[in-house]
Amino acid sequence: MKFFTTTSFIFFHIFFIIALVSETQTLGTKTNYRSNKYIPLFIFGDSYLDAGNNNCINTTTYDQANFLPYGETYFNFPTGRFSDGRLISDFIAEYANIPLVPPFLQSGFNQYYNGVNFASGGAGALVETFQGSVIPLKTQARNFKKVTTWLRHKLGNSDSKTLLSNGVYMFSIGSNDYLSPFLTNSDVLKYYSHLEYVSMVIGNFTSTIKEIYKRGARKFAILNLPPLGCLPGTRILQSQEKASCLEELSSLASIHNQALNVVLLKFEKQLNGFKFSLYDYNSDVTQMINHPLKYGLKEGKLACCGSGRFRGKYSCGGKRGDKHFELCEKPNEYLFWDSYHLTESAYKQLAARMWNHTENSRNIGPYTINDFFQDM
Ligand SMILES: *[C@@H]1O[C@H](CO)[C@@H](O)[C@H](O)[C@H]1NC(C)=O
Ligand SMILES: *[C@@H]1O[C@H](CO)[C@@H](O)[C@H](O)[C@H]1NC(C)=O
Ligand SMILES: *[C@@H]1O[C@H](CO)[C@@H](O)[C@H](O)[C@H]1NC(C)=O
Repeated sequence: MKFFTTTSFIFFHIFFIIALVSETQTLGTKTNYRSNKYIPLFIFGDSYLDAGNNNCINTTTYDQANFLPYGETYFNFPTGRFSDGRLISDFIAEYANIPLVPPFLQSGFNQYYNGVNFASGGAGALVETFQGSVIPLKTQARNFKKVTTWLRHKLGNSDSKTLLSNGVYMFSIGSNDYLSPFLTNSDVLKYYSHLEYVSMVIGNFTSTIKEIYKRGARKFAILNLPPLGCLPGTRILQSQEKASCLEELSSLASIHNQALNVVLLKFEKQLNGFKFSLYDYNSDVTQMINHPLKYGLKEGKLACCGSGRFRGKYSCGGKRGDKHFELCEKPNEYLFWDSYHLTESAYKQLAARMWNHTENSRNIGPYTINDFFQDM
């Protein structure tokens, strides 16, 4: 009796090889983390990107959105996002095939391979901006440092370096630095000229970018500032009769945006491996305000949720000192969700424009976010 026919011998070998291979693969995923398989998304900034960090800090309801009707369209509960549903960063995560990126302060969350969200509603590049009720950009950068330490402990130097350089670093910051002097009784704009103030904001923003770059970041995805004087909440800062934008604020945003463009081009030359994807949020939001129908929206100026003219009074949810507020029936027909923030349906369109170049929009560049999530 032959023990091994040729076929059974071959079979035995194939089986053995398969067993061996799958064994190493199992071991591989358990003990050998593969950093080149992950492109994490790290998110910094303000309420345009905060997914719930401010739920966990000592602040006021002005800087929180953890009550209904916030979240009513998509999550069916208030997550802390300043919208009726998902934010730009949520759609970017979806397009990149990674799970929703959790807030850094969410309790029990400490797996950072797919990234983490540090953004905080009300935050600015200056520590003085809404000081005491937000997580300023500098503190967000310090929290990022903690995450890099965690990754180094888990993965070792080489793999954590790969992961960090593959990662995409998304920023929306600056709006609150310009809004706060108009919304509080600060007279900072009496002491500084517009140019001086902008260079202070840009200086602090770019020193954070450099710091994060030094910790290994290479791919920066940055939203510039929207037309800040044309939000429902800033239009109403003008006298009753006027329905136009608050020009001084929109002008500060434009000066900021030009300076931002210049400094990013400079970094591209100066910093080895530095890549950026600058999104002209200003241009797309301006278009949507003026031509909502082109974007499948019906209303570009009036907010869905709030009270008073343009529903510009920041009372959405009735928890900010004023119980009365109005709420539209179909948020997906509106550009603005509340006095300062956009609806999910607007964010979805903007995210798509950041992800790909489209025929009628080239407001993202030099890289698209899609480029950043390919191996490069
Ligand atoms: C929260 O902030 C308020 C006002 O700044 C302060 O009075 C209070 O002690 C703080 N609470 C905690 C738990 O830190
Ligand atoms: C950062 O902002 C502070 C005010 O908070 C200012 O004094 C400082 O000059 C700014 N730094 C840069 C590099 O612009
Ligand atoms: C981006 O472009 C690709 C290729 O044309 C397409 O398959 C994809 O659906 C687009 N993604 C978005 C979010 O528009």
